[in-house]
Amino acid sequence: MQNNVLILDFGSQYTQLIARRVRELNIYCEIHPFNKIPENVETFKAVILSGSPFSVRNEDAPHPDLSKIRGKVPLLAVCYGAQYLAHFHGGKVEPSETREYGRANLSIIKDKERLFEAITENSQVWMSHSDTIKELPENGVRLASTQDVLNAAYRIEGEETFAIQFHPEVYHSTDGKQLLENFLVKIAKVKQEWTPGAFVDNTVAELKEKIGDDKVVLGLSGGVDSTVAAVLLHKAIGKNLYCIFVNNGLLRKNEFDSVLDQYKDMGLNVKGVDSSARFLDALAGKSDPEEKRKTIGRVFIEVFDDEAHLLDDVKFLAQGTIYPDVIESISVNGPSATIKSHHNVGGLPDFMKLKVVEPLRMLFKDEVRRVGAEMGIDPELLGRHPFPGPGLAIRILGDITPEKVRVLQEVDHIFIQGLKDWMLYDKVWQAGAILLPINSVGVMGDERTYEKVVALRAVESTDGMTADWVNLPYDFLQKISNTIINRVKGVNRVVYDISSKPPATIEWE
Ligand code: XMP
Repeated sequence: MQNNVLILDFGSQYTQLIARRVRELNIYCEIHPFNKIPENVETFKAVILSGSPFSVRNEDAPHPDLSKIRGKVPLLAVCYGAQYLAHFHGGKVEPSETREYGRANLSIIKDKERLFEAITENSQVWMSHSDTIKELPENGVRLASTQDVLNAAYRIEGEETFAIQFHPEVYHSTDGKQLLENFLVKIAKVKQEWTPGAFVDNTVAELKEKIGDDKVVLGLSGGVDSTVAAVLLHKAIGKNLYCIFVNNGLLRKNEFDSVLDQYKDMGLNVKGVDSSARFLDALAGKSDPEEKRKTIGRVFIEVFDDEAHLLDDVKFLAQGTIYPDVIESISVNGPSATIKSHHNVGGLPDFMKLKVVEPLRMLFKDEVRRVGAEMGIDPELLGRHPFPGPGLAIRILGDITPEKVRVLQEVDHIFIQGLKDWMLYDKVWQAGAILLPINSVGVMGDERTYEKVVALRAVESTDGMTADWVNLPYDFLQKISNTIINRVKGVNRVVYDISSKPPATIEWE
């Protein structure tokens, strides 16, 4: 990809945010861990050093060799990066006397500095550090201060090297995006060419080149990532893309048929495989959440393997992996325990021995949606809420029976359709219903009932890592509750989940 910007990650929680802000400027960038600086670093158009949880004064803190970067490629050092440059080149970094965390305002900005073009005094910035730069490094020129931080920004005379103590990537830094634009566009002269259209053109050309006339198999889930990956591949190789869409019997009401029809309308070469009975049989009597997840994962692999074997001569397996998964697997802190390792290649099912192609591996979720829109995918499909792979199995607490699936599908359908009818669906990040393993007493007409309780859950979030419950209108909740109790046999009570994550989670299992 041309016009590369390299972000060297020192392990800050904000590193991904830097990348997102850069991409919002229509500039392509990649994150690499500080201890794996790419060989061809001199060919990058600009380098950004991230923050870090470490103190530069610690012996085990990241101390990368920047000799191939400094003075050769325009460099912006953020927070830890700024301290790192100071500490090792004649400056002084010491623990701060005052707490330097949270909002601050730039009180003095040196006149006519390119990094601060269109940024005025008092601009709010976000600080998060416990060390402070007491003395600038050799040839350092102070560019800005705040009330508590004398050296809030500096540059190095004679180099295109800039350093800032605050975090421009965080929204609380009001002019953060402007500062990144000043650095990347005005100083480093990077072109703003990273657009969804350019991504589609480049990726389709690369996929054609890589795959040639070979066949590719891909598992569609009905979700945004696998759908966008399929449409990109379809553009590149047409009918040589074989999509498999498995019904595990735990999808939403009517979802298997309607999504399958949608895929066919899009011209995809897709086979729907209804394995509901196989999944539900395997799940019978299992109530432990992890056991349910493992069972579904295992049966999925079996079904997919069976289907892949029906195809002759497949060479590639396509996956809808996106950038946050990739970053996690190469992160400074090492891959997290949740990332699957594929060490035991011998023991893997046959389809997993195929060559892997992941056309979305460099995209963030919002970029996947924009690429999907660029290719004309139905906005309704692109705006769908996330849905967990194990589906309703983890929303039926306890063991799973076909009858419980039916009840929950009805409840979920009323809730989701209601959100759409009341124009609330797009205001919610994820919503669903949970079937609780308890009965409660009710009264219908003159009869006493003893039936199931369902919980409704609707959350707002940006990435699912943290979430808060949505303040849905009482009128809406009242209407949905009445409809559910009147229409769904076996349910006599509806409750609304008002827990945030943390400490709760989005799903109940
Ligand atoms: P939690 O419950 O951990 O959920 O707050 C965060 C996000 O992850 C989804 N989720 C899953 N997705 N397989 C998946 O593919 C799973 O086993 C699974 N568990 C939770 C959840 O729906 C939410 O979007």
